[in-house]
Amino acid sequence: MSGIRPTGYLHLGNYFGAIRNYVRMQEDYDCFFMVADLHSLTTHPDTKGLKQNVHRVLAENIACGLDPEKVTLYCQSHVFETSELYLYLNMLAYVGELEKTVTFKDKIRQHPNNVNAGLLTYPVLQSADIILHRAKHVPVGKDQEQHLEMARTFANRFNHRYGEVFPEPKAFNNNEELVKVPSLDGSGKMSKSENQMSALFLADEDEVIRKKVMKAKTDAGPTEENSKKPDYIENIFTLLRLVSSADVVKKFEQNYDQCNIRYGDLKKQLGEDMVAFISPIREKVDDILNDQKYLNEVIIQGAEKARVSARATMTLVRDVMGLRY
Ligand code: TRP
Repeated sequence: MSGIRPTGYLHLGNYFGAIRNYVRMQEDYDCFFMVADLHSLTTHPDTKGLKQNVHRVLAENIACGLDPEKVTLYCQSHVFETSELYLYLNMLAYVGELEKTVTFKDKIRQHPNNVNAGLLTYPVLQSADIILHRAKHVPVGKDQEQHLEMARTFANRFNHRYGEVFPEPKAFNNNEELVKVPSLDGSGKMSKSENQMSALFLADEDEVIRKKVMKAKTDAGPTEENSKKPDYIENIFTLLRLVSSADVVKKFEQNYDQCNIRYGDLKKQLGEDMVAFISPIREKVDDILNDQKYLNEVIIQGAEKARVSARATMTLVRDVMGLRY
């Protein structure tokens, strides 16, 4: 089980860091992927753009290979059982432990005028999302470790207080190193909040992709054979390894090691291979977004499937809690 924030416009970092992992999992596991629209209300109470964002994030995930027939792909707000479990878990969550959450501290710094209770209990809602399906594996990035730890705490606390219902959810990475996609400006990883020019979005037009790649930082080239690559050059090679053929990568590696690399050629090749990688996804996203009937079917079917699982868990929850009069 995992949640995807409906912030729209996924970039290459989201693709290689998360979505590709989901697509692989769908073959071997019973998967639940959810668009976390309720979570977005903690910081964005205005719901005007929400529908469009939810549609885009669904279309992007489907275009990347997530198959709504194989997985349960749904919107959080459509599964009302989430809110009920959230309420019970809130009684087991201590204000002190919630206040210590790193993401909460970050958010009160970013939104000092909107420190609402939902922001404080964000990890409780996330725990409800996960344990509602009695999920064991949660594919998430490093930034979610603490939330996962809290989900384990609340699940265990519930089990001890009322009776064994929930397994312990653990972060899951398919036994692979999570791929960190570097940003194009030579520093850190690709992220949407940073400079728009340093991230490649799945929605970027071909010319924009080429332009962004050509702007990546390079230098005059190595002067000694087999020398170590500076970070910003290593980053270009990392991107090349993600989207180009092994032959292409080998050729440029050799050129680098022999000090006859031409960065203009390298970036031109990378630009073309990026276009070849991204443009079919972009076109598929557009096709899906233009097919409202299909999207509606996906949303309805997802809610139905998710609620079957949710109802089964909540029957157990109410039983062990003794809420049967
Ligand atoms: N908090 C997660 C994020 O910021 C999104 C999320 C919501 C989530 N519910 C979840 C992730 C359940 C995993 C499981 O990315």
